[in-house]
Amino acid sequence: MCGIVGIVSDNNVANKLLDGVKRLEYRGYDSVGMVCINSNKLVIKKDAGKIEEVDKKVNFSELKGNIGLAHCRWSTHGSPTKENAHPHFDCKSKISIVHNGIIENFSELKEMLISKGHKFNSLTDTEVIAHLIEDNFKGDIEEATSAALKQIEGSYALGVICADSPEILIAARNESPLIVGIGKNENFIASDVAAILKHTNKVIYLDNNEMAILTKNNVQIKNIDGEIIKKNINEIDWDSELAEKAGYEHFMLKEIHEQPRAITETLNGRIENGNINLANELNFNERELKNISRIIIVACGTSWHAGLAGEFMLEELAKLPVEVEYASEFRYRNPIINGNTLVIAISQSGETADTLAAIREAKKKGAKILSIVNAKGSSIDRESDSVLYTFAGPEIGVASTKAFTTQLVVLYLFTLYMSSIRDSLNKETIKDLMGKLRKLPLEMESLLSKEKEIRKIANIYKDKHNALFLGRGINFPIALEGALKLKEVSYIHAEGYPAAEMKHGPIALIDKNMPVVVLATKDIYTYKKVLGNIQEVKARGGIIIAIASDGDSEIKKLADHVLYIPNTLYILSSILAVVPLQLLAYYAATDRKLDPDKPRNLSKSVTVE
Ligand code: AGP
Repeated sequence: MCGIVGIVSDNNVANKLLDGVKRLEYRGYDSVGMVCINSNKLVIKKDAGKIEEVDKKVNFSELKGNIGLAHCRWSTHGSPTKENAHPHFDCKSKISIVHNGIIENFSELKEMLISKGHKFNSLTDTEVIAHLIEDNFKGDIEEATSAALKQIEGSYALGVICADSPEILIAARNESPLIVGIGKNENFIASDVAAILKHTNKVIYLDNNEMAILTKNNVQIKNIDGEIIKKNINEIDWDSELAEKAGYEHFMLKEIHEQPRAITETLNGRIENGNINLANELNFNERELKNISRIIIVACGTSWHAGLAGEFMLEELAKLPVEVEYASEFRYRNPIINGNTLVIAISQSGETADTLAAIREAKKKGAKILSIVNAKGSSIDRESDSVLYTFAGPEIGVASTKAFTTQLVVLYLFTLYMSSIRDSLNKETIKDLMGKLRKLPLEMESLLSKEKEIRKIANIYKDKHNALFLGRGINFPIALEGALKLKEVSYIHAEGYPAAEMKHGPIALIDKNMPVVVLATKDIYTYKKVLGNIQEVKARGGIIIAIASDGDSEIKKLADHVLYIPNTLYILSSILAVVPLQLLAYYAATDRKLDPDKPRNLSKSVTVE
């Protein structure tokens, strides 16, 4: 939801803080601020607006000091104004903090502090923490922070500095992600690795109710009772170039084009000499997997769409009953779960609060938890019994693209693995399906070479306000995903529907101002029925953009525009079919002069409920 960076160093930190918070801007961009300690004084610069705009106004690089904090905000309490921007500070301007999360008891704490004479400058829940630390401060910033944390209810990733102790940076975490970076004569805290990868790839992942006490040459991890905790130092294997734009105008376009590589990396080592090699990654033995009687998939947003496609794969090939649940709904129901239920959590960030809460609920009820995540070391990764990574690399664009297609690939791999140990498919069939899977990156490359053609068609959306996406079977979740991509980056209202469902209401919307994308790839199941749906739309003056299989000449007679994708297995065609929809959304946004990397009101990782 927000991005945090903190540095304590041998040298001036302003430029590194600015560089770091820029790499976190996708986590929140309605305001930004920075604080350094210079000659035992806090010096703060902050304002509402995107980093570039605010930096032009305040010139963050002017800040002097070898210790500091930076923050980019996605507002939860208090609108995006200069006063509500972080960092916040106490009455005496001695203590400054940055925070990501929600303080659930901030009102009563604020009342208590005001009754003690504290004066507040903002409407945020965060500012309460600064005054609470001040209220507990007796000269030791670590003790005061620890005492304040014990009074707080809610989620936090926190950075704290104090003008009286300019050599110490305190960090603390509960629910919201926070890492510690181990540098040379300097140490870091950050919301995620992208912010500090340029300076170090050695990181410690803080767990809930843990604090870190950093100086430029030392890092100590404690719990909030002050007991020292031993933590592993992890080496990140991403290189920071991957997190750059590499010549593309936006991260979203770069990540759409990275999908062939991301799929290749996700397949690497997992399909060799005709076998699906997942056994060494899964912490479940074959007997446990054979005993699985039911699968529940929990996720949010795009990851939930991947779950719907996974349901189709697992039921069709592994003959396993699957339900797909919105994580936010699942966690408040009373799902019937037992030891033979496998709950699969799908999450790019591994930090989505609702998905994390859902697996905690499922775990309490005795389910086995498998997660499919992109961010190694994330909370969902660490709290699952077993994890299968998507090796998509850092996904910076708010709109998820390469994470989605690699999630589908992992779900397909897991489906084939379950089919092989449960004998729902014979070895020959599995070998054939793997052979087709191996071709996917090349097929996707050839599809991406049609970008110009897709770009031209995207122009249809220039002056439109509504759009419909239709698909059947495994293409229904792809229709949902196409609609989500379009609405979240171009702000055009778009809905995805099962194609047959259109007659039960949405057909009333059809007119010449309603572009309708129809997933019409060739399959034995419903192709003819989809042609019928296209005719129903045409009869009402709708504009049809069809996603069709190479060589299909019939569809040309019906659709206004056809985007062809390579012929492959029906199930795998869904992974290809989403690519033109991603590009349609991207160009609809850029044609409307919008920034697809930072859509309004959104953030990359929703770490609040
Ligand atoms: C997708 O483009 C959105 N950014 C959003 O729906 C996202 O998929 C959702 O918030 C889930 O995020 P996660 O995969 O990190 O859990």
